[in-house]
Amino acid sequence: MDGESYLIESGEPIMQFEYQNPTRLVFGAGSLPRLGEMAGQYGKRALLVTGGGSVKRIGTFDRALKSLKDAGISVFECEGVEPNPRISSVKRGAAIARANECDLVVALGGGSTMDAAKVIAAAVLYDGDPWDMIFHGQAAPHIPTQALPMIAVPTLAATGSEMNCSAVISNEETKEKSFVSANCLYPKVALLDPELTVSVPKDQTAYGVCDLMTHITESYFNGVGDTPIQDRFAEGVILTAMEYGPKAIANGNDLNARAQIQWAATVALNGWINSGSGGAGYPVHMIEHTVSAYHDITHGAGLAIINPAWMRFAAQINPSKFVQFAERIFGFSANSPDDIECALAGIDRFESFLKSIGCPTHLSEMGIDAQLIETYAKETLRIIHDENGRLPALPPMTEADIVSVLRAAA
Ligand code: NZQ
Ligand code: ZN
Repeated sequence: MDGESYLIESGEPIMQFEYQNPTRLVFGAGSLPRLGEMAGQYGKRALLVTGGGSVKRIGTFDRALKSLKDAGISVFECEGVEPNPRISSVKRGAAIARANECDLVVALGGGSTMDAAKVIAAAVLYDGDPWDMIFHGQAAPHIPTQALPMIAVPTLAATGSEMNCSAVISNEETKEKSFVSANCLYPKVALLDPELTVSVPKDQTAYGVCDLMTHITESYFNGVGDTPIQDRFAEGVILTAMEYGPKAIANGNDLNARAQIQWAATVALNGWINSGSGGAGYPVHMIEHTVSAYHDITHGAGLAIINPAWMRFAAQINPSKFVQFAERIFGFSANSPDDIECALAGIDRFESFLKSIGCPTHLSEMGIDAQLIETYAKETLRIIHDENGRLPALPPMTEADIVSVLRAAA
């Protein structure tokens, strides 16, 4: 919990928090032509960052370009940002922006493109190595305090990067994947047009649904204190994702389903749902990032593998929140607030949902064997650990705990 915590008689902390999200959110099918109008408020020379080519194949790129040019904005391109974006792409993008004196960065793509664009926007104004900005070993050597204004136009519903101040970058040389969080990285505008997501294939749609649900379960199960309003927000978004996710997967052109999922993804990680929960950490994400760094797997697929195994581990120690989850999400009736059978039955149903939408739930399904499990655990803790050397979470995890979760997910 931020700041001083206030205690009630039982000794439980009462929530206390501050919330500010400066990103302007523009949401609605058909919004893309407003890009030029938005961008024109922040600059005249835009670096347009894109991924591996989907936006060009589908025509979104040409439409975005037209809107920017019609608003009198010069456009310079940084294409080819890879899934699990690499620090080398950040350096390349920053060099293009510097060479062309860009005063604005526009991201058109998935979370990978948006994350690279954010760090490019900060790297342009930083003379050191951009990897300095990425958290590793309990700190980042340089937390950015300034960045070019950035506009996020997501083409995939998943990460929520469009309305938060974080980015996740991989270092292909050191096999590290980690994050940066800094206020200067909030996009100025998040322009969300669900029409841009209708072309997302079934598998990526499912992984996006898993990613957004995991953002919520991480804060729900690792939160401390009593947060009944946040819990019900969280449960509402999870139920919505479970209702509309399968519709978007069954029929990619179902624009309403696409819109509901896109809104769910944004709200899942824009800070609103976990306000006041004083989250102890993002253990499933931290472990997944290490596995991703070694095997370059899709983030949401990696989460689907690790989350159920982590839940079973955490439920043994703190069953009551998992009982609440089983009751409120899946309609179970518990015999007691600590009814572990009920908690585990809810986790089984959660895992079955992930399977039903096409997510893998074991490492072997991704062709990853158990050989390096100890290495993943060590590496996860090398990148982030508390003062006792454990992974921040509820409960904090030792190396042996991480190994046991990964073995259960093998
Ligand atoms: O690269 P292109 O050709 O655009 O294709 C992408 C990519 O192959 C494709 N795609 C995107 N939009 C499409 C489309 N295909 C057809 N039609 C469209 N409209 O989908 C593939 C995956 O794209 P990617 O951007 O990698 O996916 P996602 O949005 O899931 O982003 C994943 C990255 O975000 C990080 C992850 O770790 C991973 O690196 N995260 C960022 C977070 C944040 N900034 O807050 C939080 C998350 O927890 C996550 O860690
Ligand atoms: Zn995620």
